[in-house]
Amino acid sequence: MGAAPLTNGPVTVKISVVGAGNVGATTAQRIAEADLADVVLVDIIDGVPQGKALDLVQSAPVMGHSRAVLGTSNYEDTAGSDLVVITAGLPRKPGMTRDDLLRANADIVSGVVENVMRHSPDPILLVVSNPLDVMTELAFQRSELPAHRVLGMAGVLDSARFRAFIAMELHVAMEDVHAMVLGGHGDDMVPLPRFSTVAGIPITELIDEGTIERLVDRTRRGGGEIVSLLKTGSAFYAPSAAVYQMVEAIVRDKNRVLPAAARCEGQYGLDDQYVGVPVKLGRRGVVEIIELALTDAELAALHASAAHVAEQVAALAR
Ligand code: NAI
Ligand code: 2OP
Repeated sequence: MGAAPLTNGPVTVKISVVGAGNVGATTAQRIAEADLADVVLVDIIDGVPQGKALDLVQSAPVMGHSRAVLGTSNYEDTAGSDLVVITAGLPRKPGMTRDDLLRANADIVSGVVENVMRHSPDPILLVVSNPLDVMTELAFQRSELPAHRVLGMAGVLDSARFRAFIAMELHVAMEDVHAMVLGGHGDDMVPLPRFSTVAGIPITELIDEGTIERLVDRTRRGGGEIVSLLKTGSAFYAPSAAVYQMVEAIVRDKNRVLPAAARCEGQYGLDDQYVGVPVKLGRRGVVEIIELALTDAELAALHASAAHVAEQVAALAR
C-alpha cells in the first residue's frame, strides 16, 4: 500500500495488532495460523506482547506456518505496517455500557493512532476498540488518512451473532445463513431481517414475526449476554473471527460485501459520519459504500442509531 502495494504474493504483508489482550492476541493467532501475514503485536504492558508472540511462534511448527510474530511495546517495530488493527483499550465489565468506555478509550486510541502514524505513513486502520463507531471517527480525525483507509469492525460480529441465532432456531447449517446488521455497535444497532437469508430465502418467509423479534433482541444484547456470563472481560472468539474476515478481505483484495463502520458522505442521508453500513472491502480499504433500498422504518432506525453515535462524538469534543 502506498509505494509498496499490499499483496498476498511474494511481498510479505505486515499487520500490526495494537492491544495484546483477548481480542488482539486471538486476532494475531488467526492471522498467523491462516498464513496470511506477518504480525507485530503491541501492548503497553511490557512482557505481555513479547510473551504471547513467543508462544504463538512456538505453536507455528505444530500448526504448520512460518509467519513472523513479534511482540513489542515499541512502535518503531510497527514501521511500514500495511494494516493496523486497533484493539487497545478497556473491555466492558458487567453492568457497564459501551458508552462508559468512551473517554478512557478515546485517550488510549488517540495515543495509539499518533504512535502508529509516526512510523507507518499510509496504513489501513481497522478499529475494534469501543465505543466502536466513535473510536473509528477519532482514528480518522487523528490519523488524517483518507476516510476509505479508516474503518471499524462491528457489523460482521453483530451479523455473525444474528446468523448463529437464526441457524440455531431453524436447525440449519450456520454457513447457509447470511445476515445484515447496520447502525452503530450498541443496543440500537439495526438488524435487517429482510436482508437476512437462509440459502437465499429471506428469513421473513421462514420464521414468524415474534420469533424474529426475539432473535433480533438477542442479537442487540449479544455482547452483554457474554459479558454477564464471563463476569470479567467481554467476547473475543467471535470478535477476532470477525476481524480476521475483514483483514483477509483487505489483504486478498477480495471485494467482499460486509457490514463495517464506514464514513458516510451522503449515503443513507448521513453526512460525514461513521456508522455501520454495507461496504465493498478490498485492498484500498472501503472500495464503496453500498446503499440498500431501506423501508422508511429501517432508515429511521439507522438514523436513530447514527444520531446516538453523533451525540457521543459531540460529547467527546466538549
Ligand atoms: P483486553 O483487556 O483483553 O485487552 C486490551 C488490551 O489493550 C490490554 O492488553 C491492555 O494492556 C491494552 N492497552 C491498553 N492501553 C493501551 C495502550 N495505550 N497501548 C497499547 N495497548 C493498550 O480487552 P479485549 O477483550 O481484547 O477488548 C479490547 C477492546 O475491543 C475493548 O475496547 C472492547 O470493548 C473492544 N471490543 C470491540 C468489539 C467490537 O465488535 N468492535 C468486540 C469485542 C471487543
Ligand atoms: C461485544 O459486542 C464487547 O462490543 C463487544 O462483544
